[in-house]
Amino acid sequence: MKILDVGCGRKKYPGAIGVDRNPATAADVLCDLDHFPYPFRDSSFDQIRAIHVIEHLADVIKTLEEFHRLLKPGGRIVLVTPHYTDFSSFCDPTHRWHLNSYSFRYFGEDDAGFGYYSSVKLREISVRVKLLALWRYLGFELLVNAFPRFRRFWEYYLCYVVRGKVIEFELERPS
Ligand SMILES: C[S@@+](CC[C@H](N)C(=O)[O-])C[C@H]1O[C@@H](n2cnc3c(N)ncnc32)[C@H](O)[C@@H]1O
Repeated sequence: MKILDVGCGRKKYPGAIGVDRNPATAADVLCDLDHFPYPFRDSSFDQIRAIHVIEHLADVIKTLEEFHRLLKPGGRIVLVTPHYTDFSSFCDPTHRWHLNSYSFRYFGEDDAGFGYYSSVKLREISVRVKLLALWRYLGFELLVNAFPRFRRFWEYYLCYVVRGKVIEFELERPS
């Protein structure tokens, strides 16, 4: 498995090539992820990890398009980002985006009619939401993740009270 950890910070994923713009990190390659293309060839990675990074970058759509270019067909993106109702989402002034569990649907079939945002397609393998501890203990997290219709209901009606923490996405570049 050839893995790229973008915005790796100090906790680079074991065995991955780390990219960051900050020389004080564990990065193997220093580059600004807001400038395209990144310094790697097309279709060169089996997995791209973007853990708490996308919310810092200038353009979500262009970044996902660049991940698509770098992935081998069948390769996967593991992306973790705060849910917009979590304290951290708006607390950190370097966060440019405040996302929910549907924010990457525009690359898939359930694009709400906005499939023209990008010609790039990414298949949603999984979406998992973590809630604040209280709601997890009360069983809400289980319901949100077990039933897609309940997740939609939660996003529309409940999430300002039953607040989210992080969202974990796994997306695949179709073969
Ligand atoms: C919140 S930290 C997450 C670090 C790591 N992924 C983790 O989970 O611990 C965000 C990282 O993204 C990097 N970063 C933010 N904007 C960047 C950019 N435009 N180009 C390169 N790296 C960037 C920061 O330097 C930082 O290391």
